[in-house]
Amino acid sequence: MRTIAVINAKGGCGKTTIATSLASALAWEGHAVALADMDPQRSASDWLGQRPEDYPALSGIDAGSGTRPLGDIDTLIIDTPAGLAGNELEQIIKRAQTVLVPVLPSPVDMRAAWRFLSHLQDLRAVRNRDTALGLIANRVRPHTIIYRELTGFLDGFRVPVVGQLRDSMNYVRSFEKGLAVADLPPYLAWQDWEEWETVLTWIRSKNSQGKGAAPGSLLAAAMQRLTGA
Ligand SMILES: Nc1ncnc2c1ncn2[C@@H]1O[C@H](COP(=O)(O)OP(=O)(O)OP(=O)(O)O)[C@@H](O)[C@H]1O
Ligand SMILES: [Mg+2]
Repeated sequence: MRTIAVINAKGGCGKTTIATSLASALAWEGHAVALADMDPQRSASDWLGQRPEDYPALSGIDAGSGTRPLGDIDTLIIDTPAGLAGNELEQIIKRAQTVLVPVLPSPVDMRAAWRFLSHLQDLRAVRNRDTALGLIANRVRPHTIIYRELTGFLDGFRVPVVGQLRDSMNYVRSFEKGLAVADLPPYLAWQDWEEWETVLTWIRSKNSQGKGAAPGSLLAAAMQRLTGA
């Protein structure tokens, strides 16, 4: 099973937006996707609960809203809470094959991301390439100075920038209805679709697939965290 975690210690950078958007996009491609919500705020679970039936189905690990048994799942996407650190962070990094790190183009977020990425790069799973990291520049407004600073800053890391997502009300409006940009019609969301295609190309490539750990252990860890066991 493919395991992709969306992580950044900083709050509000787009983790849930990216986890849900990715889940929907991969479900449209025909994957059997489960969304694990490790955040006590339950935003991803609430989103899943709102998802209309006539869109590609997703299973939820904690909400029990999915219809498929977990054995049928081929892709697990994990939305994580802000402030994830220490052993908990290390366990997720160790068990996921792919980690997406959203970064916002603001000076405060970029400074925080610098520290966070430096920490991630020091973790054994990342050093050994068991886990592949990819940065996503999120809420980008292309013609701003801060955008140029962000791209300069991101290029300074050995971690690849695997996509840039524009700041768009499509994310905000679709989220309220349990939808994501992949669920919107092309006349509304073609720009977002194009941006996601870049991310999906990386997700499909070997470069994004670290060796990871046995998927069973990831599920066990996710469940343990959710149930507080
Ligand atoms: N590309 C985007 N364009 C417009 N709005 C966005 C975009 N990405 C995220 N947002 C908005 O930014 C806010 C924060 O996003 P989100 O909840 O995904 O962040 P988060 O990292 O999961 O936050 P938390 O740390 O609280 O879990 C939300 O209101 C979301 O709709
Ligand atoms: Mg969130």
